[in-house]
Amino acid sequence: MNRKIESISTSKPTIEGAGVHLKRAFGYNEVPLLDPFLLLDDFRSNNPADYLAGFPWHPHRGIETVTYMLEGTVEHGDSMGNKGIIAAGDVQWMTAGSGIIHQEMPKGINGRMGGFQLWVNLPSTHKMMEPRYRGILNEQIPETGKKIKIRVISGEVDGIKGPVEDLVVDTEYLDVTLAPNTEFEHSIKKGYRAFAYVIEGSGYFESGKSGSIGNGHLVIFKDGDKVKISADEKGLRFLLISGKPLGEPVAWYGPIVMNTREELEIAFEEYRNGTFIKKKVKL
Ligand code: FE2
Repeated sequence: MNRKIESISTSKPTIEGAGVHLKRAFGYNEVPLLDPFLLLDDFRSNNPADYLAGFPWHPHRGIETVTYMLEGTVEHGDSMGNKGIIAAGDVQWMTAGSGIIHQEMPKGINGRMGGFQLWVNLPSTHKMMEPRYRGILNEQIPETGKKIKIRVISGEVDGIKGPVEDLVVDTEYLDVTLAPNTEFEHSIKKGYRAFAYVIEGSGYFESGKSGSIGNGHLVIFKDGDKVKISADEKGLRFLLISGKPLGEPVAWYGPIVMNTREELEIAFEEYRNGTFIKKKVKL
C-alpha cells in the first residue's frame, strides 16, 4: 500500500549554537512525532552573518548527529581526537553514545553555505555505548540513475548499499533528485517512520493529490509499504529518511537526550565536574 501524507509543514527560523540562524524542520516541540528522529536543521544560507558564529565546544550524549553538506565546509574537532573538514557532499555520522564534546564551525565558500543536521535517538540499551565517529567523503557515496538520481547514504536502493552500515537504529538516508515530470517509487519497511524534506524544485508526495510541494517543506508519511513521489515540471530534490521507531520515553535538554530526568541530571553534573567523557583519547 502506498503511504499517504500525514502532514505537511515548513521549516521555521531558529537561532542555535553561538547565534547561527538556521531553519528547523522539526525538533523538541514535535517529539515524539518522528520517533526515532529528534531534529532536522537546514543551515543553507548565502549570508555569512547567519552561520559564521558556529557551534563552539558543546557536549552530546544519548544520540547520533548526522551532518550532510551541500555547499561550503564545516570545520570540526572532538574529544575523541577527530579533527577535520566536512565538505560538499560529505557526511559526518557521529554517535555520541556515552558522550563526546565537539565543535562545528561552518565556513562558506564565496559566501555560500548549505547542509542539514539530523538527530537520531539512541535506544536505552545504547545511550551509553562507546562513542563512534564516521566521516564519509562525497566520492564514497554511491549515486544511481539519471532521471531518478539517488545518493545512498545509508540503506539500499536497487541492490546498492550506502556506506553507513551497522547502525544502532535502522535508518535509511537518501538524497533523491527527480528530473521534471518523473515518478519515483520506493519501498519503506512497514512500521518505520518516514519523511521527506524538499530541498529544490517541487512535486507531489501522494498520488492523486493536487498542489505541488516545494523547497523547505517537510512531508511526514503515514504507515504503508512504499512511497510514490513525482516531480512537477520544475524537477524535484528531497531528502528521504526513514527509521525504526524506539517507542521509549524521551528526556531532552539542549544537546543531551536520555530516557529519564535523573539520567539528564547525571549527564549535566558529570559535564560540570569533568567526568562526562568516558573514553580517553589515545595519543
Ligand atoms: Fe553538535
